[in-house]
Amino acid sequence: MCGIVGYIGKKQAAPILLEGLTKLEYRGYDSAGVAVLGENGKVQMAKAQGKLEVLKNKIDGGKALKGTCGIGHTRWATHGVPNETNAHPHCNDGMTIVAVHNGIIENYAELKAKLIRRGYTFYSETDTEVATKLVDYYYNKYNDPMLAISNFALRVRGSYALAVLFSDYPAQIYAIRKDSPMVIGVTDNECFIASDVPALLKYTKSVYYIENYQIAHLKEGCAAFYNIDREKIELPLTEITWDAKAAEKDGYEHYMLKEIHEQPAVVRNTVNYLLHDGYIDFSELKLSDNVLEEISGITIAGCGSAYHAGVVMQYVIEDLARIPVRVELASEYRYRNPVTSGKELVILISQSGETADTIAALREAKDRGLKTLAIVNVLGSTIAREADFVLYTKAGPEISVATTKAYSAQLVAGYLIAIKLAEVRKTVTAQYAEKLKTELGLLPEKIQKILCDQIAIQQFGAETMNKKDVFFIGRGIDYAVSIEGSLKLKEISYIHSEAYAAGELKHGTISLIEDGTLVFGVLTQDKLIEKTVSNLVETSSRKAQLAAIASEGVKLPEDCKNVFTIPCTDVHFTASLAVIPLQLYAYYLCVAKGNNVDKPRNLAKSVTVE
Ligand code: AGP
Repeated sequence: MCGIVGYIGKKQAAPILLEGLTKLEYRGYDSAGVAVLGENGKVQMAKAQGKLEVLKNKIDGGKALKGTCGIGHTRWATHGVPNETNAHPHCNDGMTIVAVHNGIIENYAELKAKLIRRGYTFYSETDTEVATKLVDYYYNKYNDPMLAISNFALRVRGSYALAVLFSDYPAQIYAIRKDSPMVIGVTDNECFIASDVPALLKYTKSVYYIENYQIAHLKEGCAAFYNIDREKIELPLTEITWDAKAAEKDGYEHYMLKEIHEQPAVVRNTVNYLLHDGYIDFSELKLSDNVLEEISGITIAGCGSAYHAGVVMQYVIEDLARIPVRVELASEYRYRNPVTSGKELVILISQSGETADTIAALREAKDRGLKTLAIVNVLGSTIAREADFVLYTKAGPEISVATTKAYSAQLVAGYLIAIKLAEVRKTVTAQYAEKLKTELGLLPEKIQKILCDQIAIQQFGAETMNKKDVFFIGRGIDYAVSIEGSLKLKEISYIHSEAYAAGELKHGTISLIEDGTLVFGVLTQDKLIEKTVSNLVETSSRKAQLAAIASEGVKLPEDCKNVFTIPCTDVHFTASLAVIPLQLYAYYLCVAKGNNVDKPRNLAKSVTVE
């Protein structure tokens, strides 16, 4: 949450900072600000409440602030309401030290009290002002930026990606991180800081990932790194393979629609990455058949849609590989005391690779001596760096807060793991494994077919935009995809929605069904369709309006007038097709309501705090 950027080079910094913030606005969008160090060492700062656009207008697209070194921030409020005073950057009294911060300083109240005792006053409610004044305190004490930053790090608890300008050191930026993402980009004569790679892609694909408690000292074209003891360290330079265009809207009205349409390619790329000539090759993951043979069970952990992908995987892996799978919310797993045999594989799923709860679940699993496999989209992210094995989904940069293509890529990653396990553990015949792999290769064109025929779902989204409650029901994998359809709808439309295992409806939830309540049935699991149909009929008897996502050929009740058919596929892979109309439904309904599709209220793309 929150996005930070920094630039130092030969060009004017402010327009570059604003451009970087545009790419990071998905991380927070309640206020924004930039600070630029002029040649005279004077800091110029501008902040604005609301969308980045307000700030851009205020400083004439950046032209109003002159200087070639600066930092910027887009905020998702934690401490203090979203207003201009609480917006970053924050500064000391003389405006000689200015900082932007992503994360939470947990002991900020204690530090603030200490600073007040030393004569400091505070103008905002933020933990970041406390962080900035703590740096100021140590700078005054030691007269050395590096010492100020390392002492800051030793005193604070919590998470931070912090970038600081010192007016005594013009044309330099100091930065440090702990548990909040930060990437440093370099060209021959420039350095960049960003919370996420898309902000840099236009300028460079050469990046450094700094680890916890490492300090970056950036000058024009020169990035140097230090540990907390201020000893110089060398970090590997990583080349990003993402295309800058992949982070643009490319003619689509919204990122979400573009990302929905990218799904055939994303699924194809993820399959092709690991499936070569009919062989699932995990050598790049360094995950050997031995490990897969020896594990006694699997725990899957993730948050939100990543958790939902895990629920699908649970059904698929258990059915194909006959190994016990437990799927857990990462935020719960991290605080539970799970019983383990010591031989489970823990799979962490995360698009960003920076979700605080999923990182904590990963560390919890490692502390218990369990092997960990990350299914991650962002190269070099914390989860990717810390897990024993990494399976990169090939979704490319995902900008819209509501995930679509990353979820689809995660599903496919799960199918590949399931088939591989089934082959290694010999729980399916070679012929069936072949059939599954062939079917995986056909998924992209089946997804494309659904995307080419979306008028009906578009109309239905507009027709039902005033619904107060929408239910999604299904059994097995149909239930697993229902929870994702329901999340997509509520997060961008703000309509109350629930997903229920169809058989569970009668145990309480059916009392919520009233005249006109919309109930979507998901019907793709051959053996379960009749049962879910019966549950749908039970709701229509209570005057619910019915709709269905169903595989071709499924017979539906007469009063189910709105049926969105998907092509047939293997019963294990239907979530990949059923989710597409559910995403389109949420998208078009949201557009009809006039909501902000890509930046829904109160949400941020990457949840880097607990
Ligand atoms: C889904 O649309 C959400 N934006 C959210 O649930 C997301 O999937 C969750 O926060 C996990 O993020 P991650 O995949 O980056 O870990």
